[in-house]
Amino acid sequence: MLRFDIISIFPDYFSALFEFGIVRRARAGGLVEINAHDLRDWTQNNHRAVDDRPFGGGDGMVLKPEPLFAAVESLTGAQQASELKDRARVVLLSPQGRVFNQKLAVELSQAEQVVLICGRYEGVDERVAEHLVSDEISIGDYVLSGGEAAAAVLVDAIVRLLPGALGSETSAVNESFSEGLLDYPHYTRPPEFRGRRVPEVLLGGNHAEIEAWRRRAALKNTKRNRPDLLARTVLSEAEKSWLDDEHD
Ligand code: ADE
Repeated sequence: MLRFDIISIFPDYFSALFEFGIVRRARAGGLVEINAHDLRDWTQNNHRAVDDRPFGGGDGMVLKPEPLFAAVESLTGAQQASELKDRARVVLLSPQGRVFNQKLAVELSQAEQVVLICGRYEGVDERVAEHLVSDEISIGDYVLSGGEAAAAVLVDAIVRLLPGALGSETSAVNESFSEGLLDYPHYTRPPEFRGRRVPEVLLGGNHAEIEAWRRRAALKNTKRNRPDLLARTVLSEAEKSWLDDEHD
């Protein structure tokens, strides 16, 4: 069973977040345990202060190292990041981290414990990134007011990869990004809606034709919205020339 420990100054932020859909079912089924902890529980000072002014001056406050080190040490049982091995991954959510993606989600889903540290305010003492965490992760090139929403994104993306989480009817193998491409378009009934018809090939039962249509549609979507992904995908010669001929 995978265990998440989230360290935040707003632990209540998460109280309803994991009570829906796949994440709820995975918790109920014992595939995952998710605990949100209050960073202030590890403060030593009278005011339970978790932050302080930056050395060198400047605006804003910086999260202090002591409570974060104490929290991670008590939650993992390790005294040093080097003792964690691969059992536990300790993640700092911050815009300075490497960008989260499906590959990293798969990797983290294989750990026994994932500790998520939510950054806040203007920053986190750099000794946390350097000596406490195994991974510094960003969810994209924009600045959130704190790491909480980012932590929720990681939990969702990781939990649905746990064996059994999606149920037998679906699997995470055949979806967006598993092959480095965006997904193909999906349609359901009715076959015609406000004058717009579902592509005819999907209404017939020719599975080879349907597969070919889906692959082309996925390539076309990817070329239009994420050409950066396409550059890293292995394409057949036929697919390359087809894409070159394709004009939106
Ligand atoms: N905290 C603030 N912005 C963030 C981002 N983009 N990703 C992860 N954590 C963050």
